[in-house]
Amino acid sequence: MEENSTNFIVMGASGDLAKKKIYPTLWNIYKSGVLPPDTRFIGYARSALTVPQLREKSEPYIKAKDDEKAKLDSFFAANDYVKGSYTEAEAFTALNDALLKIEKGRKGNRLFYLALPPSVFDSVTKLIKTQCMSKTGWNRIIVEKPFGKDSESSAKLSKHLSSLFTEEEIYRIDHYLGKEMVQNLLVLRFANAIFQPIWNRDNIANVVITFKEPFGTKGRGGYFDEFGIIRDVMQNHLLQLMCLTAMEKPPTSDPEDIRNEKVKVLKAIRPLELSDVVLGQYAGDPEGEGEAKEGYLDDETVPKGSRTPTYAVAVLRINNERWEGVPFILKCGKALNERKAEIRVQFKDVPGDIFHGKAKRNELVIRVQPNEAMYTKVMTKKPGMSFDPLETELDLTYKLRFKDVYLPDAYERLILDVFGGSQMHFVRSDELAEAWRIFTPLLHKIEEGKVSPIQYKFGTRGPPEADKFIEELGFVYSG
Ligand code: BG6
Repeated sequence: MEENSTNFIVMGASGDLAKKKIYPTLWNIYKSGVLPPDTRFIGYARSALTVPQLREKSEPYIKAKDDEKAKLDSFFAANDYVKGSYTEAEAFTALNDALLKIEKGRKGNRLFYLALPPSVFDSVTKLIKTQCMSKTGWNRIIVEKPFGKDSESSAKLSKHLSSLFTEEEIYRIDHYLGKEMVQNLLVLRFANAIFQPIWNRDNIANVVITFKEPFGTKGRGGYFDEFGIIRDVMQNHLLQLMCLTAMEKPPTSDPEDIRNEKVKVLKAIRPLELSDVVLGQYAGDPEGEGEAKEGYLDDETVPKGSRTPTYAVAVLRINNERWEGVPFILKCGKALNERKAEIRVQFKDVPGDIFHGKAKRNELVIRVQPNEAMYTKVMTKKPGMSFDPLETELDLTYKLRFKDVYLPDAYERLILDVFGGSQMHFVRSDELAEAWRIFTPLLHKIEEGKVSPIQYKFGTRGPPEADKFIEELGFVYSG
């Protein structure tokens, strides 16, 4: 029997995202030998490019090792490039012809990866639908955020996509769902007997989900300013982490069952108010080095006097039996003192203290990056003659425990999932609508200028007011 043909089409192949992320990802999957046997990669963009030129652009990011040269040659030999416009039907007919030629009458499966600016999104998706859908195999469309800017624009986009493709054909990427420790959350929570009984309002005081980056907008402030940190990171990445931390156990591990549970969590969260957030914007540090000297407003691509937040803390409350009264604190910022993403579950004080206040709260920390780890803060007797409690950690640091295991990049896992047809780690349209429902009124109030972000210095923890806000919500800082 003849093999199927599988074509991965990179729409926007000449762009930055393609060379920095998509081609390196495709290479990594290719070399691991897990792709369907006859897979080809077809770049499509407006610029006139050849495959060798495409290779030249992406090779610095692919970072192949010296002994991988032959493999890299065979990867690029599996590539094609088609030049064409994003708005003309004839160009897409030509792309379809090129695909049919590759498929040679076999059953053809097609994955379209849209690495495109929002301005051409509508026309490209329409033309894919009218000119380029495979009639013999399956079609899958991979899309990236921004999925709109608020409830209304996102609903419009969803309506547009659903008028062209079925939900099963649409893969909305939130790359945090492809990270090792994020995927681990469900196993951790539902394959262990010890966590489930304590995973509730009786035992947990609060949950803090943090995203920190030590760099600013790096000249892409113009783009960032349109969105701000809440849309860039909180409404998607952090909210996903929150859903996986808070959701009920699904009846099965079927992707739809999992996504149903995530939607239920979102439905139990009311829209945020201004009083639920503290916002910040970074200022330059005159004593800092390089980029750190510049504040957000010094970035020439940022509009003068912009009030867009580059830092935000928000408290979300889940109105259900498990979580009522437990604040979920989402915290994210650019130009901070370190790179870190983690989920910190802080347990309540031990009732009936007999250690004169020396016993600190237990915490379970899932460190998403860098240096993947899961650790629990526990109290132990100070070793030796003393009887004092000492805070220490039960530590599962991946690098130490799983020494030679390769942890694939989020994109590698997610793109491979699309080949395999699993939507478990992708965002469903109702999930997206709920996420916007929670954040839209707040975002509109911020944009009406109802609040000014607090300035914080580049390279710090963010505004001290944010730490105070978190403390007032019941989080106890250790140390
Ligand atoms: C993106 C944001 O979604 O995530 C960026 O647009 C951010 O602003 C990035 O830097 C962070 O991703 P990661 O995987 O490096 O934590």
